[in-house]
Amino acid sequence: MCGIVGYVGEKLAIPMVLECLKSLEYRGYDSAGVAYVDGKKLEVFKRVGKLKILSNFIENKIIPASCAIGHTRWATHGEPSEKNAHPHTDNLSVLALAHNGIIENFSALKKDLNTQGVEFYGETDTEVFAKLLQQNIFNENAIKSENYAMHSTMHNTIKVTKKCIIMAIKKTIMQCTGSYAVVFIFKGIDDVIFFAKNKSPLIIGESKYGKMLASDTPALLGKCEKFHTINDGEFGYISKRSICIYDKDFNKIKPYFMPIKLQLNEVILGEHQHFMQKEIEEGAKSVLDTLDRLDSQKILAKIPEQIFDINSNFYITACGTALHAGRIAKYLIENQLGESVDLDYASEFRYKRPQLNSRSVCLCISQSGETADTLSCLELSKEFGATTLAVVNVRGSRMESIADYIIPTSAGPEIAVASTKAYLAQLGAIYALIAHMAKIRNKSLDFSIDEIKSIVKANENVNYENELKEVVELIKNEESVYFVGRGLDYLLAMEASLKLKEITYIHSEALPAGELKHGSLALISEGCVVFAILTQSDLIEKTLNNVHELNSRGAKVVLFTPFIELKNFVYKLIKLPNVKNLLAPFVALKPLQTLAYLSAISKNLDPDKPRNLAKSVTVE
Ligand code: G6P
Repeated sequence: MCGIVGYVGEKLAIPMVLECLKSLEYRGYDSAGVAYVDGKKLEVFKRVGKLKILSNFIENKIIPASCAIGHTRWATHGEPSEKNAHPHTDNLSVLALAHNGIIENFSALKKDLNTQGVEFYGETDTEVFAKLLQQNIFNENAIKSENYAMHSTMHNTIKVTKKCIIMAIKKTIMQCTGSYAVVFIFKGIDDVIFFAKNKSPLIIGESKYGKMLASDTPALLGKCEKFHTINDGEFGYISKRSICIYDKDFNKIKPYFMPIKLQLNEVILGEHQHFMQKEIEEGAKSVLDTLDRLDSQKILAKIPEQIFDINSNFYITACGTALHAGRIAKYLIENQLGESVDLDYASEFRYKRPQLNSRSVCLCISQSGETADTLSCLELSKEFGATTLAVVNVRGSRMESIADYIIPTSAGPEIAVASTKAYLAQLGAIYALIAHMAKIRNKSLDFSIDEIKSIVKANENVNYENELKEVVELIKNEESVYFVGRGLDYLLAMEASLKLKEITYIHSEALPAGELKHGSLALISEGCVVFAILTQSDLIEKTLNNVHELNSRGAKVVLFTPFIELKNFVYKLIKLPNVKNLLAPFVALKPLQTLAYLSAISKNLDPDKPRNLAKSVTVE
């Protein structure tokens, strides 16, 4: 969360930074800001809300700067306001700094600076970092006669050089704990952007027009041909002509550039209105691409077989939608392989003292590969000697560099905050993993990978938009709705409910259908909308009993099912393709995701950027 960009080069820096920030808005959109340095001038522009507001404000200003930084914020410390927006400056306004992450000891540092007379205008941890850094810079002595900037304080005149700044970064990051990717510019030091990185992502891009720093590769698309990934503990600067990187032991590091493989059409809307709509349509492709890649590159076969030993203790952890994919993995391992699995939210997992040891296998699932809670679980599992597997979508992510074995998904860049195609790709990877484990155990399964491919292909172009219109009207003004199902259908209900609530702000709860009568039925009154999911042929009667209970209390039940004969028992039936029980997720998700998408549109909400949320949650 929070996206940062820096540009130095031949082109106009401010338009360049604003353009690149657009591709990082998925990381937060509470406020946006840019800053540039040009000769003796350092100027900052910030606005609360989405980037568009800032862009409109700057549009007519002609700023000839060739060096600028920018930031798009997801608020952690301090409300979304102009004073808390990045870039932050120090009391003398000699530097402007943008940050992604959390400086965990910022309160203590702030107190210390306060006692030295440093004043603060906002509540952020970043402002503390900026002010501490400025103090450290001014405490460095410029010894060499390289180019320097002169700054006057109350007591004296200070010469600041690049070297001073580098020494000050080194000192500052030693004083700070937590996660940070920071970029900053300094008044009087033209065409140089300084940086430091720990745990939050930061890359350097290069082209013949200049050099860039960014949180993620989509920001560099169409601007740079290649990128270098900065490692934890590293710091340095980029300038028009050079790149200077130091590791934590102050050794100079040579950048290692890789080509940017992303295609522009993967990150633009094309004929679609929203990324969520585009990504729901790409769900089938992401399953097929994932399965093909795992197969053609023999990725699972390369993982040592003993890891899947029957006597291993299997743990699964993740957050949000990725955890819902994990729930399906647990269901399948227990149902098909007859082995038990422990699963928990990543934010809970690490604090419940899981009994991890060298016989444990921990499977982490993440679209971004950056989610702080999931990463912590991965690190914890490794500390206890467990083997770690990670299902990850973003190449080069931190999770990829930490996990013992990677099971990559091939959903391509997912831009809408609410995950859709990445979830389907995760399911593809999970089913492939279970099939692989079954093969090692010589067990037969109730599904095959070929069957998945064929039903996904057969249903790729089914469109539910027309059929769902009436249902969307039904819930548009509801305050609360429910999703129910049994077995695998309950797991789908959880994901459908999460999707609906996060982008429509309608309160939604998912329940095992059989649990209704143990509490939640008390909430059902005349006209209340309940979505029931029924894809499991062996559960028709049981789920139908629950539908009757709901009908008797006046609920309007909308049933997602392939069994059209049930039409007369419900308010409305949405027909799903009839597939084998265990393959239902591959056909049931599209209409459920579409329901959430259309409902957000009907309420005039932006489905791609739901309030208060961000896609990559890099803080715990
Ligand atoms: C955020 C996103 C969700 C996502 C979750 C986990 O909450 O809004 O869409 O499922 O993080 O993200 P990950 O990148 O680890 O899958």
